Amino acid sequence: MPAKSAKPAESASPADRARALREQLQEHAHNYYVLDEPTIPDADYDRLFQELQAIEAEHPDLTTPDSPTQRVIGAVLEGLTPVRHAVPMLSIHTETDTTPAGAEKFDARVRKALALADDAPPIAYNAELKFDGLAINLRYEQGELVQAATRGDGETGEDVTHNIRMIATVPKRLRGIEAPVLEVRGEVLMLRQDFEDLNERQRKLIEGGAKGEKTFVNPRNAAAGVVRQLDATKAAKRPLAFFAYSLGEVVGWEVPAKHSEMLVAFRKMGFQVNEDSRVEPGAPGLIAFHEEIAAKRDALPFDIDGVVYKVDDRALQEQLGFKSREPRWAVAHKYPAQEQTTVLQDIDVQVGRTGKLTPVAKLVPVFVGGTTVSNATLHNQDEIDRKDVRIGDTVIVRRAGDVIPEVVGMIAAKRPADSQPFDLYKKLGGQCPVCGSEITREEGEVDWRCSGGLFCAAQRKQAFLHFAGRRAMDVEGLGDKLVDQLVDSGIVRTLPELYKLGIAKLSALDRMAEKSAQNLVDGLEKSKQTTLGRFLYALGIRHVGETTAKDLAKHFGQLDRIMDASEAQLLVVNDVGPIVATSLHTFFAQPHNREVVEQLRACGITWKEDDGTGDSSPKPLLGQTFVLTGTLPTLSRDEAKDLIEAAGGKVSGSVSKKTHFVVAGEEAGSKLEKATALGVAVIDEAALQAMLAAGA
Ligand code: IVH
Repeated sequence: MPAKSAKPAESASPADRARALREQLQEHAHNYYVLDEPTIPDADYDRLFQELQAIEAEHPDLTTPDSPTQRVIGAVLEGLTPVRHAVPMLSIHTETDTTPAGAEKFDARVRKALALADDAPPIAYNAELKFDGLAINLRYEQGELVQAATRGDGETGEDVTHNIRMIATVPKRLRGIEAPVLEVRGEVLMLRQDFEDLNERQRKLIEGGAKGEKTFVNPRNAAAGVVRQLDATKAAKRPLAFFAYSLGEVVGWEVPAKHSEMLVAFRKMGFQVNEDSRVEPGAPGLIAFHEEIAAKRDALPFDIDGVVYKVDDRALQEQLGFKSREPRWAVAHKYPAQEQTTVLQDIDVQVGRTGKLTPVAKLVPVFVGGTTVSNATLHNQDEIDRKDVRIGDTVIVRRAGDVIPEVVGMIAAKRPADSQPFDLYKKLGGQCPVCGSEITREEGEVDWRCSGGLFCAAQRKQAFLHFAGRRAMDVEGLGDKLVDQLVDSGIVRTLPELYKLGIAKLSALDRMAEKSAQNLVDGLEKSKQTTLGRFLYALGIRHVGETTAKDLAKHFGQLDRIMDASEAQLLVVNDVGPIVATSLHTFFAQPHNREVVEQLRACGITWKEDDGTGDSSPKPLLGQTFVLTGTLPTLSRDEAKDLIEAAGGKVSGSVSKKTHFVVAGEEAGSKLEKATALGVAVIDEAALQAMLAAGA
């Protein structure tokens, strides 16, 4: 492979250099996209690309249509132009029998049409994937891409050259082909991950108020949208893939004798040809292929709706010919569909571990993506509104890959006359379906949430883990597994009950050794001596982080005063904004949350009411703000934070002009850079220790 040095050869003319760069870039793109074996890092590729761009900017006449720099075309077209196909684009007969018998029927038809005796040798078939995308015809003249067209009605499609040029894996120039005409056909599709990312971006645009934007129902629909997009710069941001699988018009190129050989030739020209393709002799091999692909269908990065079998030998293909616009030599053997329509009977609301409320569609059971689906997610109220889904609607349900089944749309024509828009808040009467706490939705957020926190059974495990965490109540011996056991066995339902656990109850748990039981009991006992800040933080009130909890403790001094504070009184506290104030206020407005607090106090949890920090040692770092970055030689992040705070200092997560010191350890990153840029003092651990010691 020639392309290694990225150094501009001093002696080369701009024209020579541009040509060399184009070749190198094409070579690298081929290695990257087709062979999946990049030979240079991305950054080097970018550098070559930029060098070519610079030359072309200086010498516009050196720009060629096939230059890798020409992939982005800014013009917005008026409409798509019709293109009459030189050779019609046919469809394939679909075998709807999704059982192995489907392959046997095809083989039997082919053998009969060829008048083969029962004992004649098996026919070789090429088995490949049936991509669920859009068929495209790519026309190359003298090896250069001159036109790309959709299938349309098979006779006439639409010119989509501007968008297809944006697809990295579509060669703009064929390798080693100078034929006057070579039309290569294949499928354009969008990878599932790219589809998810695109929809995520679209959702954000729509939430941000963008007009004329929409989300897509499935990858096929998204790919079709991109291909038929008029503005090619948009298409450039929505990645598509292309897999070659057949020919259109050919002038001046000797077509290989076998379909499988043609696929090899495509690969050599620079096309991506899917690897799941092989020649099988007779029906048993096809059945094995069908089953093998079925087993890995969900793991493929894109959607397929079946497999395709093609008679490999072209001479036999010609002999078999066509039957009403479908070749007799090929068949599409389908899989059960990944999308189905069914009726939405009701919408339930589920409460997640973090209190998030998710509307779930209750469906008339339907077989989709290989299983019977009766529940599917509707994500949130905004999604329900956007898709305009109502109870009673006939909806499209999709289950692809390991993605949870979802309702992707409804069929307007089938909507019952009396249907009403769904309103999650109204449906729940404003209350969490699990614990009855008020549900809330903050401005700018899509999700409704239960405000019950530790009181809500759905959030219990999460709440327990948070409560017991090192920076909260610091209950030693209470980790993930134990919380699962305690909650699942039903031994503990509320936080106060945790403190009433005895050795006897604990030892009754599966696999609970007496030693671990004793450890937990001791850990709980020890945790009772705490600070008001820690206790407040441990309650797991949304938006009340560790620092806010400490600030509140410091400001109010007593828990009762915090519990009774108005939002206005809360807003006075350092760093408490409207979101935090509302969250706190809502939490303590729930009688059951107050009760939990009372019960915990009754268990013997105590702190120094008057100061909140729980100690009265000297405060040498009072008023100083620190930012920690990198790995310190002896202290962990948490330890350094504790020491600084115990000495009256504050620890912040990001560097600003208000930062007094950045404590930098090994492998300090962007925070150190920012500190230097802002002129903030940078110290090491030793210096920090010295400052701490000054007060001791
Ligand atoms: S061959 C004459 N191969 O299926 C045969 N088609 O119903 C020409 N398709 O419009 C097509 N994967 O969009 C062929 N591996 C594959 C295919 C495939 C998907 C689609 C294609 C075509 C439709 C035919």
